[in-house]
Amino acid sequence: MKPAIRLLALIFLIPGSTAFASELETLIRECNDCHGNDGVSQWDDMPTIAGIDAFVHSEALYIYRDEARPCAMSTFRQGDTSRPEVTMCEVSAELSDDQIEELAEHYAALPFVPAKQEFDADKAAAGKVIHDRDCERCHSDGGSNAEDEASILAGQWMGYMRTTFNEYRAEEREQPGKMKQVMDALSADDEEALLHYYASQQ
Ligand code: HEC
Ligand code: HEC
Repeated sequence: MKPAIRLLALIFLIPGSTAFASELETLIRECNDCHGNDGVSQWDDMPTIAGIDAFVHSEALYIYRDEARPCAMSTFRQGDTSRPEVTMCEVSAELSDDQIEELAEHYAALPFVPAKQEFDADKAAAGKVIHDRDCERCHSDGGSNAEDEASILAGQWMGYMRTTFNEYRAEEREQPGKMKQVMDALSADDEEALLHYYASQQ
């Protein structure tokens, strides 16, 4: 069969699946217009979502859909940037369970790329000591191991991480009970050191 005819045959034989695929592609484009191409962010306040474990990713979307986590208004960063600002709660309100699972699988299969960002080497060294003592047992390999099902901290953008720390501190975002114990015991300097340690892993 000529390629063009084969393509036509495909379109007519499996209309449902092609419609599904293009719908998913449209969604992915929308996500990437904020989170960056292939889910790798270029913006300090925007998390990279590539490479995050699929279970952690889908849980995050369900929690946003339930409006159980703070969701800030955000502008679109690329594509049609005249679109009105939206929140992650609004974005995920439009998603079915199936779409959430598909999106989570899609991004989990893409490589996490650590952010190129500035950090203070002394603070990073102090942060490593705190991380190894308090965080490494759940966030292994310096917070870079997606298989821990505890997200990726190493190389995530510092601005986003700072917001997250503040949300935990203010008890606006839920955290695993045993993580709360260690987080609550941190001083402001400890938190700052941890932020620089995660940013230093590039
Ligand atoms: C208008 C911009 C925008 C769009 C569109 C958008 N996001 Fe987000 N997303 C954000 C911002 C900003 C945050 C972090 C701050 C917050 O929680 O509000 C975030 C956070 C997330 C998180 C949490 C990351 C973590 O480490 O916990 C996930 C997962 C996520 N988005 C996935 C998606 C997916 C999948 C799509 C497409 C269906 C999408 N986002 C579309 C702006 C956007
Ligand atoms: C008992 C296990 C445990 C410990 C100890 C722990 N964490 Fe976590 N952490 C998790 C899990 C599980 C998640 C993912 C679930 C969630 O987002 O609520 C998480 C999520 C996070 C996130 C959110 C990441 C994102 O993408 O939004 C940050 C930041 C974080 N942890 C920092 C720390 C720091 C810093 C320490 C040490 C001071 C620490 N954690 C100790 C289990 C732990």
